[in-house]
Amino acid sequence: RQNERESLHIVLNFAKTYFQENLQNTDEGKSIGLSYFRERGFTNPTIDAFDLGYSLDLWDGLLQEATRRGHSRDLLEKAGLILTKENNKVFDRFRGRVMFPIHNVSGRVIAFGARILKADKTQPKYLNSPETPVYHKSQVLYGIFQAKQAIRQEDVCFLTEGYTDVISLHQAGIKNVVASSGTSLTTEQIRLIARFTPNVTILYDGDAAGIKAALRGLDMVLEEGLNLKLLLLPDGEDPDSYVHKVGADTFKEHIQKNSQDFIDFKAKRWLTEAGDDPMKRAEGISDVCASITRIPDHLKRQTLSQRVAQVFHVSEQSVISEINRLLRQQQ
Ligand code: GTP
Ligand code: MN
Ligand code: MN
Ligand code: MN
Ligand code: MN
Repeated sequence: RQNERESLHIVLNFAKTYFQENLQNTDEGKSIGLSYFRERGFTNPTIDAFDLGYSLDLWDGLLQEATRRGHSRDLLEKAGLILTKENNKVFDRFRGRVMFPIHNVSGRVIAFGARILKADKTQPKYLNSPETPVYHKSQVLYGIFQAKQAIRQEDVCFLTEGYTDVISLHQAGIKNVVASSGTSLTTEQIRLIARFTPNVTILYDGDAAGIKAALRGLDMVLEEGLNLKLLLLPDGEDPDSYVHKVGADTFKEHIQKNSQDFIDFKAKRWLTEAGDDPMKRAEGISDVCASITRIPDHLKRQTLSQRVAQVFHVSEQSVISEINRLLRQQQ
């Protein structure tokens, strides 16, 4: 189905351009979409670099323009750009939202993320394209096309949660950044990073959801044999809000000073919770050891056992035997 894929890329590229023109050349786009991006501090070069756009608040603005250009309804539907209601009425999927095109690693548009402008409890904040023959969300990292060169150069990839985290860091000159965009991290996404660097730093939001996602993502990154660091932002901040607050230099300094390896990241949480409670400390050691069992390289596992022993003030032998016990259990 090479032809179908090619047609999908063409119609998605048309949609990207259509949304860009809406943003730049219509009154609605300028007064609503562009001023939204301005309020978020995005400059013109940034808006260009990420192909940002706007979908007009019409039922079928895209459908009409696409039809006029000869794109079939069938194709528009396959691309996830339009929807058909029960009564056969057809309408645009994205309406009255700012548009974030999602590019594959070679820079072709494969999907869209679309944000509402004002908080509205009756609508999801972000709406995304559905899965299509060219868009498998578990295999995609937002920003990978814009980031890949910098990831190679810096030899580390910052992994964030959201579209605007990628965009704001990029604008601040920190370009080696991608986002998993709301999906929990997958093995395919980690392997995509591994094509450019063996080093990953997880930079998730400093809220309960972010911590939970980081703990989940951690084991998966280790399983793929990558080197992992983690950084929690101050409570309530995400990379986008924090870089706007403190600026690029302080942000980089914060990363330098506060990135932790997974042992410190986990141990600190456990030690804080456990205090003098020996049972809780044991639980913590076991939990850190469980993550170590994910690492494929046994030499790395051994070196890390020493670290765990130091951090928890226990003998290295007890750590090694716990790791071996867990490994046997997993077989
Ligand atoms: P802003 O509010 O624009 O700064 O977005 P954010 O990236 O900070 O959003 P948040 O931290 O709430 O969520 C992280 C990511 O999860 C977003 O960038 C989206 O990719 C995704 N996400 C958030 N809300 C929704 C939603 O309602 N639906 C879907 N499908 N994805 C969402
Ligand atoms: Mn496919
Ligand atoms: Mn969040
Ligand atoms: Mn966020
Ligand atoms: Mn945010």
